[in-house]
Amino acid sequence: MVTPRVVIIGPPGSGKSTVGPALAARLGLAFRDSDDDIVASAGKPITDIFAEEGEPAFRVLEEEMVATALAEHDGVLSLGGGAPITPGTRERLAGHTVVFLNVGMAAGVQRAGLSTARPLLAGVNPRATYKALLDARLPVYREVATFEIETDQLTPDEVVKAAVIGL
Ligand code: S3P
Repeated sequence: MVTPRVVIIGPPGSGKSTVGPALAARLGLAFRDSDDDIVASAGKPITDIFAEEGEPAFRVLEEEMVATALAEHDGVLSLGGGAPITPGTRERLAGHTVVFLNVGMAAGVQRAGLSTARPLLAGVNPRATYKALLDARLPVYREVATFEIETDQLTPDEVVKAAVIGL
């Protein structure tokens, strides 16, 4: 069984999709994103999965996709922002090198764009939703993280450098 060299976690807007491929390129490793696996497996966008099947069904599929990726991918793996809230995923992350990209409210909201492409942030008060999401998840991210990078003041390239230093 292979194992990802690096797993990247963090809330929407923390830069996982930008930093993940760049870090993989820097390390000469392959990149994989659990959200892409979910879309490929379901044959539809994440917004449709949420709308048609609901968040619980999404989390079941997400846990399955993350477990598969953890078992067969040996490069850099980025997880969807909510993946670590599933207990089984948290257990599976034990023993992996997990980099937590942290982001504050202002930068996170700006980067996430609060677009409808993120179903959890598409409600009536996305800023409040995002704040609640950050507050609730911070301890969860920290529980599974090997180390944390504060990304607010950093360019993606600086985040990659910080990750390489931390590994
Ligand atoms: C989610 C984050 C999304 C995606 C899904 C749920 C979340 O990924 O997995 O919409 O619960 O935070 P990103 O973190 O890449 O936006």
